[in-house]
Amino acid sequence: MFALTGVTGKLGRVVVEDLLTRLPATELVAVARDPGKAADLADRGVDVRRGDYDDPESLRAAFAGTDVLLLVSSPDTTPGVRPRQHGNAIDAAVAAGVGRIAYTSAIGAQNGQGFLADHTATEALLRDSGVAHTLLRNTFYSELVINPGLREVVAAGELRAADRGVPVNFASIRELGLGASAALTKGDSGDVAYELRGPLWTYADLARTLTEVSGRPVAYRAVPPEETGGLAFVYDLIASGLFSEPSEDLEKLLGRPVTDLRTAAAAVLA
Ligand SMILES: NC(=O)c1ccc[n+]([C@@H]2O[C@H](COP(=O)([O-])OP(=O)(O)OC[C@H]3O[C@@H](n4cnc5c(N)ncnc54)[C@H](OP(=O)(O)O)[C@@H]3O)[C@@H](O)[C@H]2O)c1
Repeated sequence: MFALTGVTGKLGRVVVEDLLTRLPATELVAVARDPGKAADLADRGVDVRRGDYDDPESLRAAFAGTDVLLLVSSPDTTPGVRPRQHGNAIDAAVAAGVGRIAYTSAIGAQNGQGFLADHTATEALLRDSGVAHTLLRNTFYSELVINPGLREVVAAGELRAADRGVPVNFASIRELGLGASAALTKGDSGDVAYELRGPLWTYADLARTLTEVSGRPVAYRAVPPEETGGLAFVYDLIASGLFSEPSEDLEKLLGRPVTDLRTAAAAVLA
């Protein structure tokens, strides 16, 4: 029996939909802080239970009788909140006798710097829990860049970026979710970590790809981070090389190559 949190969010929804193609609905427990938001899953035979990361008792009841838990990391980045919420979930899973916890961690979490500290802390909680665990170290979502906003970039004929030419290995929410689903059902033993990443590309590659796909010239223009609005911190992470190492883990889990830049860009421009 699989318990899944975050089912009302983007990644968790992909996971639950994919698991429904692999397993009977009766094998799934969907945990939501507002079960009404997962009513469609209940209609399809999934056991929908209330579970709130801030309410430990609700989590113990939500995880009761399940063997594997997918803990989707909380979106609340207020300092101190996520380690507490994730700790509540891990403690509840231990109390409920869950045999394996899979956690949506982040690329580089093992190094513990800056904004990754919540994931580093949660990975430590998992190690200390003694429960077998699966770390799903997700890269950044490619939707941050590969989104319908690229139509305006094509119209302007210019892609401005402060990436300093360093490649990124972003992957889509859909493929990261499918990777999580595959990892959950793989039957791993012991503690495992997956580095979930897509193919490497640079923003200059993206400008060339937009030119090819749209048939209109799109020039790459390097700008300083302070000219990129709220994205300066992302560009600083890119420049630090956080996203520049490849990994085959996601394509192995998918059993096929991760979607390439051209296909992804063509899909959002279509
Ligand atoms: N790799 C990346 O680039 C990237 C980018 C953004 C976020 N993330 C991380 O990855 C996680 C999953 O991404 P996503 O796109 O699926 O996020 P999302 O769409 O915002 O979904 C977050 C999920 O967490 C649930 N949640 C929030 N607070 C909760 C609580 N107190 N108790 C129980 N559930 C709670 C939400 O439920 P409600 O529907 O009730 O709100 C929702 O189902 C995020 O939460 C964040 O930690 C990663």
